[in-house]
Amino acid sequence: MTTANTATKTATSYHPLLRWIHWATAILFIAATLIGFYCGLQQPGTSPRRELLEVHKSLGLTLFFLAILRLWVRAATKVPPEPGSSSPLVLAAARLNHWTLYFILFLMPITGYLASAAGGYSLRYFWTFSWPRLVDKNQALAHFAITAHDVVAYLVYAAVGLHVAATFWHILVKKDETLSRMWPSAPAAGSIGDRQG
Ligand code: HEM
Ligand code: HEM
Repeated sequence: MTTANTATKTATSYHPLLRWIHWATAILFIAATLIGFYCGLQQPGTSPRRELLEVHKSLGLTLFFLAILRLWVRAATKVPPEPGSSSPLVLAAARLNHWTLYFILFLMPITGYLASAAGGYSLRYFWTFSWPRLVDKNQALAHFAITAHDVVAYLVYAAVGLHVAATFWHILVKKDETLSRMWPSAPAAGSIGDRQG
């Protein structure tokens, strides 16, 4: 049986679904960050800031749901063992960077949502339906949430910058298997629900 055979192998890459979610997240996340950065430089209430913020919010909410799905897939599947070619310090730094990115994937949409909903702004999803406002209008909360969103944005630039730079260091300097662990066409790592190995 294919599944049983795969289950007995030690995984060398993440589950295919997790890999696809990673790259979808990377594209949408970088787009959301660039749009958010541009909007932050524009005067509130002006065009195209207003229209672009609608796209930014829709991308941000999509990223939130992808992050939930991703953590579920991660918990339900095998995670490949850490590469043996790296020192314990490098492995600890990589682990810290990855969990910071997961933290950001939840914190940015939550603070953005709170800022928007408590500020009384619209939350139209890609020109279709409006998301419900789960909090009443509250200027103090809106102010706190947008300040947190703007401050955590610095962590975003640092953590993503480091993450991408580290990937290039693995490809160009260490020439190891790090990218192939996340590459979409890498060999399968087992099925959902299979956490052995
Ligand atoms: C992973 C998801 C998200 C990322 C990476 C992200 C990133 C950013 C960044 C980098 C900025 C520019 C900060 C600045 O320099 O002022 C920004 C601004 C903004 N974001 Fe997000 N964001 C996300 C999700 C959301 C969501 C879900 C909402 C609302 C539903 C939202 C609402 C806003 C608003 C209103 C601004 C403008 C803030 C200002 O003008 O000061 N964001 N975002
Ligand atoms: C061009 C951009 C990117 C590249 C080249 C890239 C590359 C990679 C690679 C090669 C890995 C596997 C590392 C390993 O197994 O040790 C990885 C893991 C990871 N990446 Fe990225 N990435 C990018 C963008 C992003 C973005 C924007 C985020 C989230 C905001 C992100 C979040 C993560 C996380 C959380 C992991 C750890 C996966 C896990 O253990 O579940 N990446 N990335």
